[in-house]
Amino acid sequence: MAKQFDVVVIGAGPGGYIAAIRAAQLGMNVACIDAWSNDQGKPAPGGTCTNVGCIPSKALLQSSEHYDQANHHFAEHGIQIKGIELKLDTLVGRKDTVVKQNNDGILYLFKKNKVTFFHGTGSFAAYVDGGWSIKVSGTSDEDLVAKHVIIATGSSPRALPGLPFDETQVLSNDGALRIPAVPKKLAVIGAGVIGLELGSVWRRLGAEVTILEAMPEFLAVADQQVAKEAQKAFAKQGLVIHTGVKIGEVKSTAKSVTVPYTDASGAEQKLVADKIIVSIGRVPHVEGLGVETVGLKLDERGFIAVDDDCMTNLPNVWAVGDVVRGPMLAHKAEEEGVAVAERISGQHSHVNFGTIPSVIYTSPEIAWVGKNEQQLKTEGRDYKAGSFPFMANGRARALGDTTGFVKILADAKTDEVLGVHIIGPMASELISEAVTIMEFRGAAEDIARICHAHPTLSEAMKEAALAVDKRTLNF
Ligand code: FAD
Ligand code: NAI
Repeated sequence: MAKQFDVVVIGAGPGGYIAAIRAAQLGMNVACIDAWSNDQGKPAPGGTCTNVGCIPSKALLQSSEHYDQANHHFAEHGIQIKGIELKLDTLVGRKDTVVKQNNDGILYLFKKNKVTFFHGTGSFAAYVDGGWSIKVSGTSDEDLVAKHVIIATGSSPRALPGLPFDETQVLSNDGALRIPAVPKKLAVIGAGVIGLELGSVWRRLGAEVTILEAMPEFLAVADQQVAKEAQKAFAKQGLVIHTGVKIGEVKSTAKSVTVPYTDASGAEQKLVADKIIVSIGRVPHVEGLGVETVGLKLDERGFIAVDDDCMTNLPNVWAVGDVVRGPMLAHKAEEEGVAVAERISGQHSHVNFGTIPSVIYTSPEIAWVGKNEQQLKTEGRDYKAGSFPFMANGRARALGDTTGFVKILADAKTDEVLGVHIIGPMASELISEAVTIMEFRGAAEDIARICHAHPTLSEAMKEAALAVDKRTLNF
């Protein structure tokens, strides 16, 4: 006898598990199915984000930053350490512990909210009597029937043509988070978010890292002033980045990887490294879902086609997160998950794509929300810009971390904040003030008039807002 649910969520990444919890909070009878297993074959809910994405990468970034600080910056503070030794096993083991804490946290939240969890692959079987029949195969072997289905099956790493991931020599984000010994030379294809974050981790731990990027400009998605500042900072750290390259046929053996490429000037080059990380974007994950069985429509790029409300072409079937259009970010997936659960319960929830923040957790951190200067120029929008450097911020000086600036872009007439771009210490935390102001459609003057604690990095935000009106107090 099939088990009946109001909502079945397929996938327990940030899109799926949050949708399941919100739907349960709203009084619905909810199940969530997830296929991810840990090394012991046990359920590991949390998806890419928890297992091989946001959480483990931030754990490694933190540990490697401590190592870098101890090696290169503690001396400035008068702290002399002799014989610093890297215990990579412990460092990676700590990351695994952090991941497990998050997996267990989600299982606890499911229990707390009375979400029934099934460990296995969920696939559409049929549409019967106004409900969707879903088959679970794996540790759990069940037939479920749901009034509503939320698909949150996420994404997978894109491979270079003819170079499948073996996770030993040719690494996706998965293998790149568990290299057993620091490679002497590491090649990275793609200077996007993963290339920069994981390239930074292994560079700090001692690898010679070379990143090859196809686009002629560095970080084309960011404000170009921020991108230039970042490129300077990364070059100073020893992260080698070549842009405008064309990758040839990569040869991988048990010992090394050879990457032939044409550089920006058209000259043929060759990079030989111990291992290669391929981080050239991700593709939507729909395998095993039974897309054809029920005629679920995909768009031309293979994403599940949805409307503005995350509704698919099938009745009462919704899709959220990386498997649908929009930025591939955990917080975007979560917002969509909440909105869909609320729509199912009859509410009119909305996700504002214009205020989704982007963060790159390198050192310096990079964060932005809204439009950048290139975009405003292209749109022909009349805007004012105000910047403030961390060099002039007391807290940044005390921290010994003065790279970068805050830049605020505001409408020339109304002063409404249109975009905020930060490169510098704790940019990931500072950006939330900008998101809040933009959600309220506030003005630069609003930020400038708000009392910010002293001495904090957030004062750089206030000063950048004052700079929009050309009246900084500390610069
Ligand atoms: P996913 O997290 O991919 O989860 C999908 C889940 O569905 C998986 O558990 C999968 O096993 C399961 N599944 C798939 N098909 C089925 C099926 N048929 N049946 C049952 N289960 C199924 N984003 C940020 O916002 N901040 C970051 O710092 C950040 N860092 C990242 C670092 C790396 C290295 C990577 C790779 C990504 C990072 N991201 C980050 C992106 C973030 O991980 C994704 O945007 C997010 O995980 C998407 O959530 P999701 O719920 O859509 O899918
Ligand atoms: P990305 O889209 O950020 O970067 C991919 C880069 O590879 C681009 O610069 C692209 O021009 C380049 N590229 C593509 N094909 C190439 C080729 N053949 N040769 C050389 N360069 C090539 O994708 P990435 O880094 O793989 O990350 C995937 C997704 O995961 C991102 O879209 C991001 O949203 C998410 N993510 C988010 C993080 C965060 O929020 N801090 C951290 C890591 C990942």
